Amino acid sequence: MKQVSHQNNAFYNGDCVTGAQEYIPDNSVDLLITDPPYGIKGDQLHKHYNRNEKYIIGGYVEIPQKEYADFSTAWIKEAERVLRPGGSLYIVSGYTNLVDILNALRTTCLSEINHVIWKYNFGVFTRQKYVSSHYHILFYEKPGALRTFNLECRYGLDEKTEEGKSLNNFDREDVWIINREYKPGQAKNKNELPTKLLIKMIQYSSNEGDLVCDFFLGGFSTAKVAIGLNRRATGFEISRQMFDAKSKEIETFNPGNLISDLRKPTVSTLENFGNAWTDDEIHRLKEGFLQLAARGMTKKEIVAQLGESHGRGRFAIVNALKKINCYNGTKSARTTFR
Ligand SMILES: C[S@@+](CC[C@H](N)C(=O)[O-])C[C@H]1O[C@@H](n2cnc3c(N)ncnc32)[C@H](O)[C@@H]1O
Repeated sequence: MKQVSHQNNAFYNGDCVTGAQEYIPDNSVDLLITDPPYGIKGDQLHKHYNRNEKYIIGGYVEIPQKEYADFSTAWIKEAERVLRPGGSLYIVSGYTNLVDILNALRTTCLSEINHVIWKYNFGVFTRQKYVSSHYHILFYEKPGALRTFNLECRYGLDEKTEEGKSLNNFDREDVWIINREYKPGQAKNKNELPTKLLIKMIQYSSNEGDLVCDFFLGGFSTAKVAIGLNRRATGFEISRQMFDAKSKEIETFNPGNLISDLRKPTVSTLENFGNAWTDDEIHRLKEGFLQLAARGMTKKEIVAQLGESHGRGRFAIVNALKKINCYNGTKSARTTFR
């Protein structure tokens, strides 16, 4: 199997199942992001998308629909083997053969974390029905160890919109609206994943230095983003034409080059931030609330002071006070005492 290596990254031109068996050890991959052929004649997608094929690299290898179930079972079994316990798997899939992928996943020990819908900005042309404009992203883990999930890698838990909505929660909703990319004049795979989509999965589910694998490299977009975020990358592409065109570019993939452009989340440095409340702390919280309210302080002032003394954010204090019936939404603290 032809191999191209650069720095800590190795890519193979061949079938991902036999390739993984030969080159990827058990339990060695931290994150597997992959976008298999959809079994919908992906090699002829231009007929639906009505786009200029001049810059599309040929050689896309599609899987005949009748082979799709066995094909899915074979590569997902390898994914299960190579992932480390606690490793994450993201599979991007269309709807047509999704059932085969879900059935294959059910034959493994992998367990579902989320079923994400990726909504993109333009759909397949139709007249007699709705316009299809989403893909499925199956987010699974290999059980057995703590899974990496960098909760505040993009938005701190305390960051809000002007209307007071949590930016962190919004970013973690399971419908992602991310536009496809137009790359006029650049050679590319038939359906390359957008950089923003890959950044999101890689930021949440891996750390710098982790190994990110893609079984179906296509235009090497997963590898490029992983390296740009200072992860190590590996993977397979069966098409020689695609592999040769894209593996030439890996020397230009700059380790860490995407990091400076990432949004910097505002992360709380409070001592007890995110920790569970103990009974003793709840008792002290109630006592503190009663004392401060007896001094005639407003709720806002009390919450700020309790936040400082308990090493917690405003929302944590308010929520805890609500649970112990010390907070009912009126301004004056006095009116809430029972
Ligand atoms: C949907 S594309 C991947 C696109 C890629 N995520 C990107 O952003 O460019 C699927 C790719 O898998 C390749 N492929 C098909 N069968 C394969 C196999 N058995 N092993 C490895 N690659 C395969 C196809 O040639 C195609 O390039």
